[in-house]
Amino acid sequence: MKTLLEELSTILTMAFEEAGVSSRPIEVSYSRRPDLCDFQCNSALKHASSVSKKPLVLAEEVAKILKKKSAFLEVSAEKPGFINLKLAANWVSKRLKQMNQMDRLGCKASDNPQNLLVDFGGANVAKSLHVGHLRSAVIGESLIRLLYFTGHNVIGDIHLGDWGLQMGYVIEMVRLKDASLPYFEETTLDGYPEEPPFDIVELTELYTQANIKSKSDEAFKAKAAQATVELQKGRKGYLALWHHIMTVSKADLKKNYDQLQVHFDLWLGESDSQKHIPYVLKHLDEMKLLVESEGAKVVHVAKASDKKPMPPCIMQKSNGAALYATTDLATIYQRTLDKNLDGIIYVVDKRQELHFEQVFRVAHISQMVSPALNLKFIGFGTMNGLDGKPFKTRDGGVMALSDLIEMITKRALIKLEQYSQLESHEEKTQAALKIGVGALKFADLSNQTDRDYVFDMEQFTSFEGKTGPYIQYAIVRMTSILNKLSEQKTEASENFSGKTAIEKALMIKLAAFSDWVHMAAETYQPSKICDYAFDVAQTFNTLYHEVHVLYNSKKRQSELMSLLNLTREILEECLWLLGIETLEKM
Ligand code: ARG
Repeated sequence: MKTLLEELSTILTMAFEEAGVSSRPIEVSYSRRPDLCDFQCNSALKHASSVSKKPLVLAEEVAKILKKKSAFLEVSAEKPGFINLKLAANWVSKRLKQMNQMDRLGCKASDNPQNLLVDFGGANVAKSLHVGHLRSAVIGESLIRLLYFTGHNVIGDIHLGDWGLQMGYVIEMVRLKDASLPYFEETTLDGYPEEPPFDIVELTELYTQANIKSKSDEAFKAKAAQATVELQKGRKGYLALWHHIMTVSKADLKKNYDQLQVHFDLWLGESDSQKHIPYVLKHLDEMKLLVESEGAKVVHVAKASDKKPMPPCIMQKSNGAALYATTDLATIYQRTLDKNLDGIIYVVDKRQELHFEQVFRVAHISQMVSPALNLKFIGFGTMNGLDGKPFKTRDGGVMALSDLIEMITKRALIKLEQYSQLESHEEKTQAALKIGVGALKFADLSNQTDRDYVFDMEQFTSFEGKTGPYIQYAIVRMTSILNKLSEQKTEASENFSGKTAIEKALMIKLAAFSDWVHMAAETYQPSKICDYAFDVAQTFNTLYHEVHVLYNSKKRQSELMSLLNLTREILEECLWLLGIETLEKM
């Protein structure tokens, strides 16, 4: 099924053709003056000269043709050559009926379905998730859902930071605590304990202490770097410790991500790509791209057209060690080996943009990947505190993500204690988690990904305004009315009536669902779904106050019932696309 805008532009294209215009495109857009019309078309201004007419004359001719079409209630040509369109409720009703019968509410699959991998989450082992990890997780999960919904094959990969210096830190810290542990001896047997020597709290503590120590203790830092190198070379005792770090960390990360309703298909990490590094370096060398520079090996990636400085990409340090870029390049190679991918999408802090631009260029210049492979960087901005600086705890530390979730969930619970129709504390607690997490995710996603935003718990959890709870509450309201109608044995009619202006306005918005989904997926902007869902929920709330569904005749009730059913379904779908849960009651 075509999207609404596509359908309208097809009708208009035919009308322009009838008026003798063969130049393209003929475009229809949402009206900027909804008080005057629903849609508008400015194409007569563009194409009038091709038929040697004045724009207004052409617009009038096209309008005359359009008036005969069933899609429109009113068509008018306005100076200097606009065409204003009002849709006929009947025509919209037919479209909604069709949507109702189709999979994904008639949202067509992309004409060009792709195999995509989304690299998101960006977690590092040995450290718990903190607020800085929120955006990648939330945006990545929503993009995966949007791309999947629009017909692509999508895989999510967390790309764990599991091979860097933080491993050496933990190893050396464990040694400081108890050097007699077996990990520091090389045994030929698998003589290492099965049980990890720490739990997640202790592990986090070890890492934090190591970090502090490394700032003042150069010798410690050097030892940690050395331990990292030995681990990477495969020293057995260190590998055994590393496996413990992985097990304990992954379990903790999974718990955190589950709470956020964020899922990964692959839990691969930097360590998994190391085996490809020798090949990648050899390939770059064979392609004569590796250049010595101050002892290091680099690839020049600057182009004449660059507007910003583009430093060379360092592939190997003078001591032979690989770097972040080498690992990312090896990971790209690994991904294209394993899977037939059309694209890899990275959802990472926008401050890493240069790194990715360099790596993407190396991948393409070296012909390590097909020129058709789309490497796409989606950089996100920072979540700031009310002071405009990156969000911190009260005492200035980095807040754990689980603490942030707990804080906002508590706030939601306080609100529920005041207003909720839920009875038991248990029910309220469960609802509070869905509302709290929903509030956080909606607030995050409603900002364009590359912008910074301010964490404002009061505003995020408000039931008024453009918030997650506002949308969740609109759905609860609909459910409650629909349940009452069902209890009274009312059945939804097949048609949508559009009798009042507000009903018709809502119908047109529902009919545009697939336009918004495609727009969001194509621009990688979940914020478009937030805009749309808020608009639909607001329009529903106006209808709720203007038309008292339950005090109407049976016939009106069943007409309104079909509208409410579809509105609810669409809002639920929107929340699903954002990775937010819905509630029966709140
Ligand atoms: N772990 C990295 C960090 O903490 C982010 C990983 C992003 N993905 C990637 N393929 N480099 O900065």
